[in-house]
Amino acid sequence: MLRIAVQSKGRLYDETMELIAQAGIKFPAVKRTLLVPSRNFPVEILYLRDDDIPDSVATGTADVGIVGLNEVLEKRQRVKVLHELGFSRCRLSLAIPRDVDYTGVRWFNGKKIATSYPVILKDFLNRNGITADIHVINGSVEIAPGIGLSDGIFDIVSSGGTLVSNNLVEVEKIIDSQAVLIGGTGQLPEDKQAVLDELIFRFKAVKAADSKKYLLMNVPRTKLKEVVALLPGMKSPTVLPLADADWCSVHTVIEESQFWDIITRLKETGAEGILVLDIMKMVP
Ligand code: PRP
Ligand code: ZN
Repeated sequence: MLRIAVQSKGRLYDETMELIAQAGIKFPAVKRTLLVPSRNFPVEILYLRDDDIPDSVATGTADVGIVGLNEVLEKRQRVKVLHELGFSRCRLSLAIPRDVDYTGVRWFNGKKIATSYPVILKDFLNRNGITADIHVINGSVEIAPGIGLSDGIFDIVSSGGTLVSNNLVEVEKIIDSQAVLIGGTGQLPEDKQAVLDELIFRFKAVKAADSKKYLLMNVPRTKLKEVVALLPGMKSPTVLPLADADWCSVHTVIEESQFWDIITRLKETGAEGILVLDIMKMVP
């Protein structure tokens, strides 16, 4: 049984549980306890506060964990990033009141900065030769300048909405963060390692499918070459005959981001009956 530490609520919880569900790993509908075994896969989830996840993995309380890279970098525990999960993307940035005249990073010299990430901040300030007074608060960091507690803040920025509603502007981005799968630095027993390999394999298949669409359409035989040239598929597209010998059916996989661009050009080239389908999983 592989034990995975997962955030019990907050920023990453929903997306983590969705990823686990998409990977075909099922749990009882209601979580009554902090340690919950899966119904169909040899893993159990240990629900923790995000702050405690790096430590739980470093000490072996959990075998692996899913947590924001920001927490991993802040906690400086002996863990390694096994896989970047690509969701809950955010950044850790310095922000100051909107009406202040910002002159560059040296502005922070001698200033007071509120944050929940003192380790990452200190490291950044040291590298830039800046001495500032770091004021650690856990939660609601964004209100500190407004109530006269600090000159600026160093905090998570995602949409930027929190900064705007507190009359702050982002002036320096220090790191990018996203959800990551972390493990300890030691070797797992063989059976757990096998479960972990399978887990990462499934996560990759879910992630690969996420950004892709399955595309199928009818194409006049005479236009087949032109249409195929437009398709950036995984390999060459599948071409199937239709009852009408002048037409064929073309199937391929495209990046969701290429979608509108390609659809327009396909139509112009003569493709008809274009269908775009979600892909559940993709195994390269
Ligand atoms: C973070 C951060 C901001 C907010 C930024 O808080 O502290 O409050 O997210 O997001 P935005 O740019 O989309 O507005 P989080 O929700 O992680 O909760 P916490 O402050 O309790 O850690
Ligand atoms: Zn917050």
